[in-house]
Amino acid sequence: MPEELAPYGSNANADPALKRVRTRHFQRAKENGIKITGLTSYECLSASIFDDAGIDFLLVGDSAGNTVFGYDTTIPVTVDELIPLTAAVVRAVNRALVIADMPFGSYENGPDQALSTAIRFMKETGCHAVKCEGGVRSAKQIKRIVRAGIPVMAHIGFTPQSEHGLGGHIIQGRGDDGAEQLLADAHAVEEAGAFAVVLEMVPSDIAGRVTRELTIPTISVGAGPQCDGQLMVWTDWAGFTTGRIPRFVKQYADLAGTLRSAAVAYREEVESGVYPAPEHEYGA
Ligand code: KIV
Repeated sequence: MPEELAPYGSNANADPALKRVRTRHFQRAKENGIKITGLTSYECLSASIFDDAGIDFLLVGDSAGNTVFGYDTTIPVTVDELIPLTAAVVRAVNRALVIADMPFGSYENGPDQALSTAIRFMKETGCHAVKCEGGVRSAKQIKRIVRAGIPVMAHIGFTPQSEHGLGGHIIQGRGDDGAEQLLADAHAVEEAGAFAVVLEMVPSDIAGRVTRELTIPTISVGAGPQCDGQLMVWTDWAGFTTGRIPRFVKQYADLAGTLRSAAVAYREEVESGVYPAPEHEYGA
């Protein structure tokens, strides 16, 4: 089957001719009403499994600040920290589109800084696209990066890098003013040339309106079912994260429970001498 016919869907991996998800496939998915699926990933093991499972895109998010580096927010994350993670994800995938997140401080100074950061990610990691936060305020940066031939995924609604400016983890797009701002941001990033836009923590109705008004696909992170695709932080999604998780997260596994049980069993077997058994030993 030619690549053009089946870029998405559960049978996509059955097609050996399908080599790589491209940004044009995002557009086609929207036009054909086919949902796009994304997860974050920060290393090669999860990336390889998600790629094999047919996940369409992997975002090496600056959520690595929380999930990998143990910071409280994404604000301290640097380009130098994300580059090796992104390169590892790229090395692990055959099909998924890999998107590098531009961290706080790496594009706000203006279009020149934004383009330099995007070029570093493209050259040093082999990623296929970059993402940056902000609507109207980031439109000039997006435009410059796109003009250089680098695809950009935009990110509006709740933008974690501006958590303090927004006053905390607050749903965006509520009320007439909120909706107007969200629509202005959405149109600004589309006009700037973004190939898709993440809507984070936005009421479903207003996300639906944005999705209908835009020609580029919308990707929901807590923005409901009317968006063109869905994205989750994989450690939340797989039940690896313990503690409070956002309302929109559905946990598809209990990795924390599984790993804890395995670690307890291992410790008990080492302490009791059950492990290592003869089959785990080398002869002389
Ligand atoms: O860093 C990240 O994982 C993100 C997604 C939640 C959109 O930006």
